Amino acid sequence: MTDNPFSMTPVDKPEEFIGYAKEKEELENSLTEAGVTLVLSDMGFGKSSLVRVLGHDGKGIYVERCTKDKLYSALRQHMNALDRLLGKDPTDVVSRPVFVDECAAMVPELASTFNNMHDRGVKIVLSLTHDERAELEKHPVNKTLFDRVTKTIILNGLTKEEVVELIKQRADAKFTDKAVEFISGKFRKPRDIVRVCHNLWNEMKKNGKEKVSEDMLGFVLPEIKTREVVGGEKSQRILDYIKNNPGAKRGEIADALKMNPNSVTNLLKLLMEKHLVTRTADFKHYAAGLGGEGKKE
Ligand SMILES: Nc1ncnc2c1ncn2[C@@H]1O[C@H](COP(=O)(O)OP(=O)(O)OP(=O)(O)O)[C@@H](O)[C@H]1O
Ligand SMILES: [Mg+2]
Repeated sequence: MTDNPFSMTPVDKPEEFIGYAKEKEELENSLTEAGVTLVLSDMGFGKSSLVRVLGHDGKGIYVERCTKDKLYSALRQHMNALDRLLGKDPTDVVSRPVFVDECAAMVPELASTFNNMHDRGVKIVLSLTHDERAELEKHPVNKTLFDRVTKTIILNGLTKEEVVELIKQRADAKFTDKAVEFISGKFRKPRDIVRVCHNLWNEMKKNGKEKVSEDMLGFVLPEIKTREVVGGEKSQRILDYIKNNPGAKRGEIADALKMNPNSVTNLLKLLMEKHLVTRTADFKHYAAGLGGEGKKE
C-alpha cells in the first residue's frame, strides 16, 4: 500500500531520523578528525539511514553499495569545473568526506583507492556489518585500510522512548497508546519496528479501521514470527533457487525468478541474517547456508 508510512527503505531526511543522537554526534565530530571511521551494526539497525541522513544534510558524499564506477561518478559531481576540464581523477582531488554505505562489496576493489584518499586528508566513513568487517579483515589488501580506522561507531538499537517517538513521528496518532506501549516494549531494532508497524498499518487499512489498536497485535505478531524464518514466499523461492544452483549470483537469481534485483538483494540479506544463506568471500556468489534445510518451523 503506497500510503504506508512505515517504508522499509532507509530514511534520508534528518527529521525522520530518530534516536542514535550520541552516535550521530560522534560521527559528525569524527568528520573533522583524521582516520577512517567505521559505522558498524548487525543488519537492520540503521547504518544506511545514519549515513544517508548526514549525506542529505550536506555533511559529505553518500555512495551506496557500489562499484568503482559508482564511486567515481558520485565524486565527479563534486569536482570543480577546472579539475573536470583538466580530466583529473576525482579520487585525487575531491576533498569532502565520503560515506561508503554497504561497503563490503566494494572494499576489495577499492581499498587502496580509499587508502590514498585518506592519506591526502579525505575522511572516509565505511558502513558495514560486524560479520562483513570480520570477513574483509582477513584479506591483506583490506587490512591496510582497516589499519587506518581511528573511530568505530556501533548502532545497537533504539531505546523504548525512541521507539515510541519513531511510531509517533511516522504515524502520528494512528496507533493507540497501548499498541505503542506493546511494540516499544518488545522491539529495539529499527527494521523490526518498521516491519511490525508496516504490517499493522496494512491490517488497519484492510479492515477499514481508524487506528491500530492493541487487539490487532495478536493478529500480526504470530504471522511475523513464522514469516521471519524465511521472510515470505519470495524468500522461499530465492532459497529454493540457491539450493538448486549453489554459487548463484544476485543478478542471475533476479533474472531467473523475474524479480526486482533490489528486492532480491534485500531478501538475500534477510536470508543471510537467518543464516539460511551464505555468501562467498568476494560477496558475489550465494549458497544455501548452514541449517538451510532444518530451520523451517
Ligand atoms: N534512526 C532511525 N530512525 C527512523 N527509522 C530508522 C532509523 N534507523 C533505521 N530506521 C528504519 O529501519 C529500517 C532499517 O534501516 P537501515 O536500512 O538504515 O538499516 P541498515 O543497518 O543499513 O540495514 P542493512 O544492514 O540491511 O543494510 C529502515 O526501514 C529505516 O527506515
Ligand atoms: Mg544498509
